[in-house]
Amino acid sequence: MSKRISLPKNWSLKKIGGSLGSELTGLSIQSLKKNDIEVIKKLLAEHLVLFLPDQSPTIDEHVAFGKKFGKLEGHPNISNPNVKHPKIFELAASSGGVADEWHTDMTFLESPPLMSILHMVKCPEVGGDTMWTNLSKAFAALSKPMQDLCKELSALHDAAPHFRPEQMTIHPVVRKHPDGKGDVLYVNEHFTRRIVEMSIEESDMLLKFLTNWVKKSDFTVRHKWQEGTLALWDNRCTQHFVLNDFTGERIIQRVTVMGDVIKPVKKLSYKPWTHNGRFTASSRYDFPLYEYLSKKK
Ligand SMILES: [Fe+2]
Repeated sequence: MSKRISLPKNWSLKKIGGSLGSELTGLSIQSLKKNDIEVIKKLLAEHLVLFLPDQSPTIDEHVAFGKKFGKLEGHPNISNPNVKHPKIFELAASSGGVADEWHTDMTFLESPPLMSILHMVKCPEVGGDTMWTNLSKAFAALSKPMQDLCKELSALHDAAPHFRPEQMTIHPVVRKHPDGKGDVLYVNEHFTRRIVEMSIEESDMLLKFLTNWVKKSDFTVRHKWQEGTLALWDNRCTQHFVLNDFTGERIIQRVTVMGDVIKPVKKLSYKPWTHNGRFTASSRYDFPLYEYLSKKK
C-alpha cells in the first residue's frame, strides 16, 4: 500500500515492479465516488502504470471512465478493425495490430496524449505481455556529461510507422517531468527520426544509444494480461512495448486522454542541422527536417 496516498475503503495496491507499475484492486470503474478519480490520478503520478483487473467495461463505460481524466481523441491515423466508436482505438493482432517497437504514444503530435486507458478484451493464454519503462529513471541513470549533451538537443518525430511521414513535430530530447520529479528522456525508436541539431551520422549514433538505453531491464516492468484488465499509464514519462511472441487473437481497446504540454529543461540554443556546406548524396536525409522547418516559418 502507498505510504503517502490514503486509499478508499476496500481498495488495495500492490507494486509489481521496482521502477514502475502497481496493481489496484477492490474497486469497480462503474461505481466510483467523486473523490476516487483524484486518488487514481495521484496513484498514477506515483506508480506511472496501474493495472485494474476484473473490470470488463462496455465500450460506453470505458469511454465514460476515460472522460473523467480529460478530453478523449480517437487515433488520427489508424482505423479500428471492429468497433466504430470515435473515441475508441482498437488493435487486433489478426489485423497486424501488435505494437512491438518501444514508444510513447503519438509523439508525432505537438501535444501528445497525457495518458491512455487500455482494456484487454481478448488475449492469448500465453505471450503478448506488455512492458513499460520509466523515462525519468532512465535519464537519471545517464552520466552527467551525457545528460548535459541531451539537454541541449531536440528531435524530429514523425508518423512514418503509420505511413504518414509528413506528420512531424519537434520535441526536446529531455523534457521537464510533468509533476516536477526530475527530468524525462523523451526519444523513442518508433516515432523519433533524428536529432535536429546534429548530422544524420551523429544523430543515428546517439538515437541508437538512447533508444536502447531506455529498454534496460532496470527501468522496466512486464505485465502478463488477463481478459477484462484495464491498464492506465502516464504517457508523459513512460514508453511501452508488446512482446510479439504469441499465437491466437489479441484484441485491445484504448481510450486516449489528450493535452500533454511538453517543456524543455533549458532554453535550446544550437541551430538545426539542415545542411552543412555543399549538398552531398547524404543531404537527402536532411530534407524532411528542412521541409518541416520551412513550413513552420
Ligand atoms: Fe502504444
